[in-house]
Amino acid sequence: MQRSEIEAKAAFDHIRYAQLWEDADVLTEGLGDCAGGTLVSICSAGDNALAMLTLDPKKVVVVDLSPAQIACLQLRIGMFRNLDHAEFLALMGARPSTERKVLLVKALAGAAPEVQAFWNTLADEVALHGAGGVGKFERYFRIFRTRLLPLVHSRKTIDAIFVSRPKAARQAFLDRWFNTWRWRLLLNVFFSRFVMGRMGRDKAFFDHVEGSPAQHVARRIHHAAVIGDPAQNSYLHWIMKGTHGEALPMTWRAEHFEVIKSRLDRLDIRPGSLEAFISTGEKADGFNLSDIFEYMSPEVFAQVYGSILRASAPGARLVYWNMMAPRRVPQAFADKVTTRSDIEDRLKPRDKAFFYSDLVVEEVKG
Ligand SMILES: C[S@@+](CC[C@H](N)C(=O)[O-])C[C@H]1O[C@@H](n2cnc3c(N)ncnc32)[C@H](O)[C@@H]1O
Repeated sequence: MQRSEIEAKAAFDHIRYAQLWEDADVLTEGLGDCAGGTLVSICSAGDNALAMLTLDPKKVVVVDLSPAQIACLQLRIGMFRNLDHAEFLALMGARPSTERKVLLVKALAGAAPEVQAFWNTLADEVALHGAGGVGKFERYFRIFRTRLLPLVHSRKTIDAIFVSRPKAARQAFLDRWFNTWRWRLLLNVFFSRFVMGRMGRDKAFFDHVEGSPAQHVARRIHHAAVIGDPAQNSYLHWIMKGTHGEALPMTWRAEHFEVIKSRLDRLDIRPGSLEAFISTGEKADGFNLSDIFEYMSPEVFAQVYGSILRASAPGARLVYWNMMAPRRVPQAFADKVTTRSDIEDRLKPRDKAFFYSDLVVEEVKG
């Protein structure tokens, strides 16, 4: 079986991402018409593989190197099967609840014993923060929100972010009330490579990243706070307030609940690397590649990209993000794909998961 470069570098023994910090609205639109096709998705917390079921594919093959991340998807499957939508939101942490331990037991009924055991050890944390709040990444945001943010902004200012207003007024609010010298100092300290490496992301993940994370974050806050409407941004809401408001991530919205629930048997979960899937000889009609290319050196990226193309049906789209390291079709394969700039340009301003610097949609030529 093919091994992935990152497998040897980072420890995957716990949940890194308890919810998906990549915008499924953008992903599903970027993948286009996939009805009846085979899709492949990186699992992460599972939300986006579930969102891909709304495209009515024949199946969604879900891969991840981390058993803990696969367990996030398995919990969600139990939640769709055994909970109603209000209970789903309560257990996830999108809504306040004192019932999460009971809901967790209910959601896990029928799950594999190892999945039940894994989540039972996390029951106290789930009760406190919701199942969508127990990853390393969410803990990092929580420390930011509970310990640092109050030193910089009042609750009133934070609540005011989520009042819907026209674009010019959003810029004025950011300049006048939000972007204070204290805020800029906080960004520089909290998003220093040292702190991010220790608390949020494994240091190995910075090997290929250029530029200061704090500069990047300041640019992206402008995207979230001015280009987009914060009142519609579930990601920003969770970071600043630790829960969701009216706006929810696509997979968690009531309108998709029954459709996703009715198609759960189309998930084909394969713990292991994407590289393992692409060496099976199967062909896919679309790929959600998260931001995994950033975790690879340029040489390994080019090699993996080539094998993805060999595992792609004509017309298949590759959708992926870059946070800080630039990754787009390697030169060697430039004649084999079309960069769908038309779709990228339409989707980028609407990407609510604002920390990514680039969204890529590439289509395999026929
Ligand atoms: C790349 S990370 C990014 C997470 C993301 N930004 C989010 O919001 O969830 C997503 C997942 O990719 C998995 N992963 C990374 N490289 C992989 C590979 N080559 N094959 C399969 N899974 C991989 C990690 O285990 C992780 O769970």
